[in-house]
Amino acid sequence: MTLNLYGLNYTENLFISPGMKDKDYMKIVTIDGPASSGKGTVAKIIAAKLGFNYLDSGAIYRVVGLLAYRNNLDYNLDSDDVNNLNDADSVDDANNAEDADYVAVNIDSDNSTNNNNHNNHNNHSAINKLLQLMDNTSIEFTTNNGGVTINGENVSDIIRSEKVGMLASKFSSVAIIRQKLLQFQRNFAHDPGLVTDGRDMGSVVFPDAALKVYLTASPEIRAQRRLLQLQRSGESVTITPVLRDILARDAQDSLRKAAPLKFDESFKVLDNSNITIDETVDIIISWLN
Ligand code: DC
Repeated sequence: MTLNLYGLNYTENLFISPGMKDKDYMKIVTIDGPASSGKGTVAKIIAAKLGFNYLDSGAIYRVVGLLAYRNNLDYNLDSDDVNNLNDADSVDDANNAEDADYVAVNIDSDNSTNNNNHNNHNNHSAINKLLQLMDNTSIEFTTNNGGVTINGENVSDIIRSEKVGMLASKFSSVAIIRQKLLQFQRNFAHDPGLVTDGRDMGSVVFPDAALKVYLTASPEIRAQRRLLQLQRSGESVTITPVLRDILARDAQDSLRKAAPLKFDESFKVLDNSNITIDETVDIIISWLN
């Protein structure tokens, strides 16, 4: 399999903060959390302060969402078969797989009459199509500031839309898609270190990271933050649908079987509902020292 996904995300100027004892002291910092918890902003600032690489794993899933959007592919999360698929192809299995190749999803043509099988059929077709599209997509992180291009096209803004985010969330529940992206994400762990944010960075992708943070805030506060972000980018939206989307994404991202958003005692948990971004950064940096 040719996986045309290239991670080009090096930091030019190495700067080790005074708190860092030496450059090997801290290699990987993961910041996981629900949508709009501020993890991307915080991770970027910390990466810049430490002179580390930065990986926005959500952007990768958003590119997958964009491919789905542009090709009219949708994914029905209510279908029972989704859970079977995730059971069969868990990310743990993917971790153990000798290569990162994927298996084509088979469609059971004998059972295509009832509604559920119809949904399964559509889901399988969508996944297979998406896997093909991913094979033909080169994704490049142009800077440490969130610039993303696919096949040379700058998609930094369009991947941030609500529609693309929702499709990213839906398709990211499919284990075979996650499996395909696993090694690509791990390739970002270069010297001098990496700060990364997402849903499963500390639980699946970098379980041995030196610091694993779970950053959260109340759904209402997160919806307010998202609303401001959308309004700044010119979208005319109100709080009610934004909160509804946040709650839907929380449920999708936490309840899925494949690498759900979760934390355990190996994580440091921070609720930043009532503190600023700078304060959040300071607290996380203090955990590094
Ligand atoms: O962080 P974000 O909102 O940009 O992520 C978009 C979606 O991508 C999110 O709803 C779930 C998925 N995602 C994931 O499943 N695993 C990750 N590590 C990052 C994102």
